[in-house]
Amino acid sequence: MITKAPKGTADVLPSQAYKWQYIENEIRKICNEFCIKEIRTPVFEHTELFERGVGETTDVVGKEMYTFNDKGDRSITLRPEGTASAARAYIEHGLFNDPQPVKVFYQIKCYRYEKPQAGRYREFAQFGVEVYGSGEPSADAEIMALPMLLYKRLGLTKLCLSINSIGCPNCRKEYNKKLKEYLSAHYDNLCDTCRERFEKNPMRIIDCKSPICGEIVKGAPKLIDCICDECADHFEKVKGYLTAMGIDYVIDPYIVRGLDYYTKTVFEIIADNKNSNSVICGGGRYDGLIEELGGNPMPACGFALGMERLILTMEEQGIEIPSPHGVDIYIGNIGDASGMYAQKLVMNLREAGVVAEKDHLGKSVKAQMKYANKIGAKYSMIIGDDEIANGKARLKNMDEGTECECALNADDIAKLLK
Ligand code: HAM
Repeated sequence: MITKAPKGTADVLPSQAYKWQYIENEIRKICNEFCIKEIRTPVFEHTELFERGVGETTDVVGKEMYTFNDKGDRSITLRPEGTASAARAYIEHGLFNDPQPVKVFYQIKCYRYEKPQAGRYREFAQFGVEVYGSGEPSADAEIMALPMLLYKRLGLTKLCLSINSIGCPNCRKEYNKKLKEYLSAHYDNLCDTCRERFEKNPMRIIDCKSPICGEIVKGAPKLIDCICDECADHFEKVKGYLTAMGIDYVIDPYIVRGLDYYTKTVFEIIADNKNSNSVICGGGRYDGLIEELGGNPMPACGFALGMERLILTMEEQGIEIPSPHGVDIYIGNIGDASGMYAQKLVMNLREAGVVAEKDHLGKSVKAQMKYANKIGAKYSMIIGDDEIANGKARLKNMDEGTECECALNADDIAKLLK
């Protein structure tokens, strides 16, 4: 019997699920305020979408994808992220014909074959936003403002918004030359993967997690010092918008992001987590992706944040998530006839919007009341033959222990519970 979930996956049990629901509600609320509509795309896509979109030399595509051939012998991949899928949908459904910018959000499960640790899983959940059709720096600033506001509303503190500009493909060409010049002196000390990256995509070396490569990178030229005038001007304006919105940031010249589609602005939001992964959100501009995937040139930007990391960060910061609306009333019963009556009454109460529960185990009245206490019922009522005959029962406030008489009628009970 298999009673263990696959490595790197986690069940969300009822004792935790309310936290997810709470955050998901806040997400829907904030997206509505930012005029962002939801998009839902398939869990799997053609492998080529990610190879072309995210980039073959990235760790995500090169090492971490869940790829398999389906029964029709097509190469299929469980999505490792949401940006490429949303861009595919934007092109496929002609959303470029809608008034631009088109702003979409998604709440999805993603799959990456990573080494599991706190805040790093093989199946994880992302909330992301993508904005198509605007090349304006205000759009870049907004996609940073949204997660910052969400985190603030959820009560998070001590967050750092780190931003950088990695320029356009032209800046990158110049930069790659300089970077290779510098790295050639250290070539023999680079890890095997970075030696491959040296030819194919030297910028990825900046992001290498090996400590030796990390040391080498410290002396490397910085991309931000090599960007063209247009990209520099764009970056200045992004900073201006952030300042205008009162959002603090730091410039981190070493942020290049692990995905190939970025151009100009990139950013990460970092928490001061002790026990779990601290990069809780990442994103940026990606003006070349839509064209790369076969659409007409279209500027775009977006971000995604990890839900598990968000919840871990809230726990590390001691933030309580309000527990869900509890049970309004427990209807206890004595014997079979009253059991049937109680069943009808809880249904009528539920129809009236009351959270109502009753016995389904044939428990004694004492055991039913114990259960009512355990599930945190605010009120209780016990129904027996006498109560049914009189059309009345005692309504008990479980916290205060006080009682009052009440007609056995769902609408009357509902009024008393308000
Ligand atoms: P990413 O930085 O790869 O960017 O992932 C975004 C966020 O997802 C991370 O900051 C982290 O919170 C969470 N995350 C990533 N990998 C894992 C994992 N293995 N376990 C748990 N959480 C994880 C993207 O995916 C881009 N698509 C973001 C984007 C949207 N850029 C533009 N638009």
